[in-house]
Amino acid sequence: MGSVALVTGAGRGIGRAIALRLARDGLAIGIVDVDPDTAEAGAAEVRAAGGRALPATADVADRDAVSRAVAAVEAALGPIDVLVNNAGWERLHFFVESDPALWDRLIAVNLKGVLNTTHTVLQAMVTRSGGRIVSIASDAGRVGSSGESVYSACKAGVIGFSKALAREVARHAITVNVVCPGPTDTRLLSDVMTGDRGAKVLESMRRGIPLRRLGQPEDVAGAVAYLASDEAAYVTGQVLSVSGGLTMVG
Ligand SMILES: NC(=O)c1ccc[n+]([C@@H]2O[C@H](COP(=O)([O-])OP(=O)(O)OC[C@H]3O[C@@H](n4cnc5c(N)ncnc54)[C@H](O)[C@@H]3O)[C@@H](O)[C@H]2O)c1
Repeated sequence: MGSVALVTGAGRGIGRAIALRLARDGLAIGIVDVDPDTAEAGAAEVRAAGGRALPATADVADRDAVSRAVAAVEAALGPIDVLVNNAGWERLHFFVESDPALWDRLIAVNLKGVLNTTHTVLQAMVTRSGGRIVSIASDAGRVGSSGESVYSACKAGVIGFSKALAREVARHAITVNVVCPGPTDTRLLSDVMTGDRGAKVLESMRRGIPLRRLGQPEDVAGAVAYLASDEAAYVTGQVLSVSGGLTMVG
């Protein structure tokens, strides 16, 4: 494992847990988030736990903002060894009623955001002959999810992109892998599962999960830490679901 990680969407939720876990494993963390206060809070929590962190504000959909954030992280912490593409955003929709403006935003954040950050850090990894890229997709991208058609398309796109890129950059000792959370206890989930109906859907999800609980952000962080570690040097182009057994994709 290298010494510097950049985690997008690291201000809260799964991204914050990943940042805290990688910091515990000894990495300095660039905390990139669209919301400056959230980025600052994530960095403060890493520092309070004894780690090194730099907050940087960027919307991953905005390539220029991503370039500025990457430059700020590299200037403060050094070259990026590990990139974790975690930032994501969702609005439930039935496709037949959906507005193309919503598709554009979902694609810009969930798919193009991954391309923007990866493209921005990749050349330096190639030049230094090493690096780890871990993207957070979703089981929605492996098996589909009702009410999440465009989001599912983006996450499936992240999986296809990662497998192709893994083949392209393997000769530079760069690995590219994907972690797919199932339903995980964060703001993203509570924002879409609102009211009595949301509570009922959550309860039926919980009952359908073989391990009988929602995921916690730390569950996902453990999988990312493995893929970023020296233990995973020979693992690339892989997709790992962290979903309590909800999906078992062959
Ligand atoms: N929570 C779940 O059930 C679940 C399930 C499957 C996949 N995921 C994926 O896990 C990842 C993290 O989700 P979460 O549940 O922690 O969400 P969350 O909403 O709790 O946190 C997301 C973080 O990303 C930031 N963010 C959002 N849009 C951004 C943008 N355009 N640019 C930069 N930062 C941005 C937010 O400010 C926030 O800090 C996402 O990619 C999501 O799609 C989550």
